[in-house]
Amino acid sequence: MSEKPVSVSDYEQEAKKTLSKAVFDYYSSGADEQETLADNVAAFSRWRLYPRVLRDVSQVDMSVSVLGQRLSMPVCVAATAMQRMAHPDGETATMRACSSAGTGMMLSSWATSTIEEVAEAGPAGVRWLQLYIYKDRNLTLSLVRRAERAGYTGIFVTVDTPYLGRRRNDVRNRFKLPSHLRMANFDSPDLAFSSKEGYGEDSGLAVYVAQAIDPTLQWEDIVWLKKTTSLPVVLKGVLTAEDAKLALQYGVDGILVSNHGARQLDSVPATIDVLPEIVEAVEGRVEVFLDGGVRRGTDVLKALALGARAVFVGRPILWGLACGGDSGVSDVLDMLREELRLAMAFAGCRSLKEVDKSIVRKSGFYSRI
Ligand SMILES: Cc1cc2nc3c(=O)[nH]c(=O)nc-3n(C[C@H](O)[C@H](O)[C@H](O)COP(=O)(O)O)c2cc1C
Repeated sequence: MSEKPVSVSDYEQEAKKTLSKAVFDYYSSGADEQETLADNVAAFSRWRLYPRVLRDVSQVDMSVSVLGQRLSMPVCVAATAMQRMAHPDGETATMRACSSAGTGMMLSSWATSTIEEVAEAGPAGVRWLQLYIYKDRNLTLSLVRRAERAGYTGIFVTVDTPYLGRRRNDVRNRFKLPSHLRMANFDSPDLAFSSKEGYGEDSGLAVYVAQAIDPTLQWEDIVWLKKTTSLPVVLKGVLTAEDAKLALQYGVDGILVSNHGARQLDSVPATIDVLPEIVEAVEGRVEVFLDGGVRRGTDVLKALALGARAVFVGRPILWGLACGGDSGVSDVLDMLREELRLAMAFAGCRSLKEVDKSIVRKSGFYSRI
């Protein structure tokens, strides 16, 4: 590395130099025209912070409870698939870094490390399983059981992926896993995304999803999932107040406001812009989280001020991983922690209890009159 990165975007630049084009494309791309991809980041700049002064900010407490567990900060790691393409240690490195940072990691169903390996890499760490519901419900259940046995403490069920979003670079690259890797939690080559048959002219992952993932999912399936496990179930991929209210009716334990890093339906709003109406609809009955475009401490502060309990970051972790394995991920987490600490201090917030919507306004609505 030439100069030490001082921001998440520095890490992205470095990662781009390290990764092959196909891998960088897979990690960085959004769907279709990538309108939402750009907007997820840009939208944060349309909100402005209103700091309070003279509040003795020599101590800033960022600790938070998420689904009943204490974390050192409200910045957690989102599920991103196939992390061994970024670094040989993949998800185990990410778990180590999260564990030493005192924050939580969401492991992808499509990890290139097993559920058990990741648990062993950070036995004391907080970890949750991101679940794709497969056409084969027994297979789906077996993932949940393995997570329960390995000390995972929540299930984030992804509800925005009946099919895979059309990511043009992946179609062009006919994206598939490098031949030495597989989705480690499945036995058969077809399910492990390592079929020798190839995947035709398309993104291999799009073909995989069409074959294996269940597009018939509906609300009753959430009832089924809730019945099968005593772990908290969080819906990942809610973007409207209407669905948030339905989620409450169906008894979910949390809502992750997410557009899947802009990789599914293009032209949906940036997550930060829909967060307020979802928080309002939920009325504090379950925890609400946000992911998508979080790159700076001020982004985190804005999301918390608008009612998120914590945020999740996806790509920034991959950039850290690509540049330096677990120490790269630790660096990215430390950077976000320090940026959040400073932002809170500048805003006059000594703990997350003091972070509320009085410190943030949409630009264009700067004035109270
Ligand atoms: C390379 C990549 C792989 C992803 N894999 C998954 C996945 O396996 N399951 C899932 O629910 N979401 C997946 N996501 C979405 C993330 O969990 C998260 O919603 C998104 O990355 C947040 O946006 P950000 O990357 O701008 O922080 C993936 C995102 C990326 C960028």
